[in-house]
Amino acid sequence: MTGPRKLYIKSYGCQMNAYDSLRMADMLAPEGFSETNDANDADLVVLNTCHIREKAAEKVYSEIGRLRMMKDEAASAGRKVTIAVAGCVAQAEGAEIMRRAPAVDLVVGPQSYHRLPRLLEQAARGERPVETEFPAEDKFDFLKNPTREKIRARGVSAFLTIQEGCDKFCTFCVVPYTRGAEVSRPVAKILAEALRLADAGIREITVIGQNVNAYHGDGPDGQTWTLARLLRRLADIPGIDRLRYTTSHPRDVDDSLIAMHRDLPELMPQLHLPVQSGSNRILDAMNRRHTRDDYLRVVDRLRSAQPAMAFTSDFIVGFPGETDADFQDTMSLIEDVGFAGSFSFKYSPRPGTPASDMDNQVAESVKTQRLKELQELIDRQLAAFSRNCVGQTLDVLFEKVGRHPGQIVGKSPYLQPVQVMAPPSLIGTIAPVRIDDTGSYSLFGTVAAQDAAEPPRYAPLAAMGA
Ligand code: 5AD
Ligand code: SF4
Repeated sequence: MTGPRKLYIKSYGCQMNAYDSLRMADMLAPEGFSETNDANDADLVVLNTCHIREKAAEKVYSEIGRLRMMKDEAASAGRKVTIAVAGCVAQAEGAEIMRRAPAVDLVVGPQSYHRLPRLLEQAARGERPVETEFPAEDKFDFLKNPTREKIRARGVSAFLTIQEGCDKFCTFCVVPYTRGAEVSRPVAKILAEALRLADAGIREITVIGQNVNAYHGDGPDGQTWTLARLLRRLADIPGIDRLRYTTSHPRDVDDSLIAMHRDLPELMPQLHLPVQSGSNRILDAMNRRHTRDDYLRVVDRLRSAQPAMAFTSDFIVGFPGETDADFQDTMSLIEDVGFAGSFSFKYSPRPGTPASDMDNQVAESVKTQRLKELQELIDRQLAAFSRNCVGQTLDVLFEKVGRHPGQIVGKSPYLQPVQVMAPPSLIGTIAPVRIDDTGSYSLFGTVAAQDAAEPPRYAPLAAMGA
């Protein structure tokens, strides 16, 4: 162990990376590293990278360029700064990073970050290690647990990884290559982590995985548990009042999971369910293994189980071979569902994936135009969704003080930020809020009188659709 050192972690991409970044910080705390928000102040900089689209990877190289200058300046002042590249770019391009970026001291893939202390020792000897194996041991067995104070200091809502990797092989996607095959963590380990979170005062848990609803973990009873069964057990933990799960594949939404949306008041009536395209031809070329109708049926069944359900999704425009008619199918699916927001992207060819070799690539200008149209439609639906909340009373989990004096901020069941004028003592609690107005992003409301006998308040979505 060495003296106090400063750690700066920059996280790109998905929630899985956000979770991994926290776990890396936990792993390094016993090594004497405390976190800083200022890269200039750091002895160790970790870039936790994302490889999902081309732009994401390019950002990493420009960030390394900036860090190189900082590292050189520190060196001339006699201070050594270590630069580590972690995450999915590290996994996919470890050796290339080392060639392209001499300022980088070590590379570590998403399955190996429990080995960071040893890699740092090697880096200190000038070895420039690249650790991108999928190790035989389970990294979770080697990670260090954060203290209660540290957990709570990170907020009242926490992520918990229950599953990693993906076996679906959508033809556009790098995840099965960077994160590897689907692996579910055992139930007992997940419950132990959830209990620690609850004990520290966490009120909301989002269980995460690249394909979270494909979860099939070993249960303490010798059976294989589904996500539905795991959620039911997590809902029993005292103090855990809100549950969410992300990201789901439409094909793995089974009857038991739909039933949880009917039966568990803790399970929030909101689901991120990527569809990517509304055209059967394109869905087939993407190897999505579901049709447009399969998706619409899943949405209908979830809405029958929980009428307050709201959906968000991911869309890719300009997948190879996508015609105007295919794109119109996507637009009509969006009209049919009525989303409460979505992420949308231009198709970006990823080396090593089947779609990158398809010869019918779509022109950049067409992608740009389609993305614009799609985002305008989604924005109109999002605005309609927010407007529909005005006049409703929604349960809000208060998370922190707001930017203005006397204001606190929390989240609605639909993850909308809600701002109210109320005492900070409400932080960490859930209270009904009457929604008075909407901004472009947040809702504004007033704390309403509480009646403990009342059921959870969700907005009825009758007025949905742009
Ligand atoms: N090009 C564009 N978007 C992509 N996504 C994944 N791979 C690609 C790609 N090659 C999007 C999908 C996925 C989200 C996380 O990123 O919509 O659901
Ligand atoms: Fe990628 Fe498809 Fe797996 Fe999602 S389901 S991670 S898009 S391969």
